[in-house]
Amino acid sequence: MANDEIIYLDNNATTQLDPAVIEEMLPFLTKYYGNPSSGYAFATKARKAVDLARERLAALLGCEPSEIVFTSGGTESNNAVINSALQFEPRGNHIVTSAVEHSAVLRPCQDLTKRGCEVTFLGVDRHGNVLRSISFPFPRTNFMGQKAWARSTSIGERAFTP
Ligand SMILES: Cc1ncc(COP(=O)(O)O)c(C=O)c1O
Repeated sequence: MANDEIIYLDNNATTQLDPAVIEEMLPFLTKYYGNPSSGYAFATKARKAVDLARERLAALLGCEPSEIVFTSGGTESNNAVINSALQFEPRGNHIVTSAVEHSAVLRPCQDLTKRGCEVTFLGVDRHGNVLRSISFPFPRTNFMGQKAWARSTSIGERAFTP
C-alpha cells in the first residue's frame, strides 16, 4: 500500500515531522551532536539549542523555562510525574485517575496500590467524560489528579478494572 493511500489515525502517538522541524534539527543530528548536558566546547551549540527550545516552548505554554522538562517519551514522562509527585509530597499518597488511561499511567498506578498508595480510578462515559464527580475532602488531604486530554489508541482497548 502506498503512503498516499493510507489514512493514518495515530498522529497523537507518532507523526510525520514538519519540514521546518527537520530543517531546525538537522544540524544537531549531523554536525553538532555533542551531549548538551556536557561541559566540553563541542556541546555548546547543542546546549544553546536546547535552551532556546526550552524558552520557546515555555513562551508557547505560558510557563517558566525552568518548568519544562524534556523526556524521551510518554512512558517516561508519566512515570516521572507520578513518582516525583509522591516523592515531593510525602503526605500525599492518593492518586485520582480515570479507568481508561494509557497503560503507561494505569500500570504505575496499579503498582503503587501494592506499595500502599491509594488510587481512585474514575469511570468515564462513552465520550470519555468522568462519570463521578470527585467529592472533597478525600480521606487523606493531599492527592494528585491525572486525566488524559486525548488518546490515540482508545479504539479497541478495554477499560481497566481495578
Ligand atoms: C497518554 C500516553 N502515555 C504514554 C504513551 C506511551 O508513549 P511512549 O511510547 O513515548 O513511551 C502514550 C502513547 O501513545 C500515550 O498516549
